[in-house]
Amino acid sequence: MTQRLKVLVTGASGLVGSEVTARLAAAGHEVTAMVHRARELVRNDGTPLDLTGVTCLPGDVTRPRFGLSEDAYRALAGSGLDRIVHCAAITDFGRPEEDYQSVNVDGTAHTVELARDSGAGLVHVGTAYVCGERDGVIREPELDQGQRLANAYEASKLRAETLVHKAQADGMRAAVVRPSIVVGDEHTGVVRDYKNIYVILKLTTEGKSRSLPGLYEARLDLVPVDYVADVITRVTERFDEAEGRTFHAVGAPLTLRDFSDVMAEYPSFHVPRFVPPTSFDAERLPTRERRYYGRIVTLYESYFRRRMTFDDSHTAALGIRSAPQNGPEFLRKLIDHCLHSGYLGALPAAVTKTPAATNTAEADATGPAANGTDGGGR
Ligand SMILES: NC(=O)c1ccc[n+]([C@@H]2O[C@H](COP(=O)([O-])OP(=O)(O)OC[C@H]3O[C@@H](n4cnc5c(N)ncnc54)[C@H](OP(=O)(O)O)[C@@H]3O)[C@@H](O)[C@H]2O)c1
Repeated sequence: MTQRLKVLVTGASGLVGSEVTARLAAAGHEVTAMVHRARELVRNDGTPLDLTGVTCLPGDVTRPRFGLSEDAYRALAGSGLDRIVHCAAITDFGRPEEDYQSVNVDGTAHTVELARDSGAGLVHVGTAYVCGERDGVIREPELDQGQRLANAYEASKLRAETLVHKAQADGMRAAVVRPSIVVGDEHTGVVRDYKNIYVILKLTTEGKSRSLPGLYEARLDLVPVDYVADVITRVTERFDEAEGRTFHAVGAPLTLRDFSDVMAEYPSFHVPRFVPPTSFDAERLPTRERRYYGRIVTLYESYFRRRMTFDDSHTAALGIRSAPQNGPEFLRKLIDHCLHSGYLGALPAAVTKTPAATNTAEADATGPAANGTDGGGR
């Protein structure tokens, strides 16, 4: 094992945070897991996290000192923290702007403050999609290139990362990990939370959205959650080498053509038609489909026209393996899991209701945000 570290993980109950917490604890580090609404830590495969070496600390990143009392905050800052892994964020799309500001931006400011007060190195989890609507090769050192951002989530993550860079310039030690679109496990396809791309998969394969604005050559970058957690863990453990740099945690880019081709392999699926955005007219959609378009598809549509490729040279230089490169094969694995779990298609009688299966209802577009999340990418 590398040196035993004392690590605070924010967003420890989240899809990514729980897997990072599990890896750090399993490696023998002492982990303080900041929890917010969800008080139980559940791994991506649905099993409870082994809490050996893990202490849970309720906290709210939107509040100064995370809402802790002066004494509790001082104790935390003075506890000899080596690292803070900042995963807490709002990753849904379609929320009011102030939610993104308070959680993603103010939450990062408060975390930066703790990093300063404690002397811990900060591993900030951003998003590869801070690149906004830029096309072409996106390199890890690039941040604000005057890009157009697709939504309030992306804009907030850019502001948050900018804060981290400013603090770094003032002497704080930090590294940034930027995942692309986080999806199921590399080997099993299993995912705990069906969000972002899964919502679109459901709407389209069930025939609720048959025409979408998009370019067949547009690319979506899907990255397995286990790989993302591996990258964050490695950056945390090898912080002395990683400090001052940004690491793309990205996977296999798939074109919308690849998506359509794979979807066409499943006889029960509807295969959506992507219409060039310049000729797409939502008013011509049937009423029900127009509703789905307005409530859900619009949250993601910018991801259906982007043609970027994420360079991950820094990640490779840290000796981290690549994520799976065969996009279509990986997509089949993800879809097969969705079918097996009942998320796509009828739920087999033997499958009990999992938290993930519960989310199925959210794609029914009953609410304004309707479970849009990070990334058509976050
Ligand atoms: N998922 C993706 O596709 C994706 C892609 C790229 C980047 N990322 C980034 O990766 C990080 C982790 O994402 P994720 O998918 O794991 O997100 P997630 O599953 O939505 O989890 C977010 C976590 O943040 C916590 N949180 C929210 N508000 C909080 C508050 N006010 N105070 C303290 N904690 C709060 C949540 O706790 P409660 O639920 O208990 O409130 C939860 O543990 C985020 O920074 C995200 O931007 C995600």
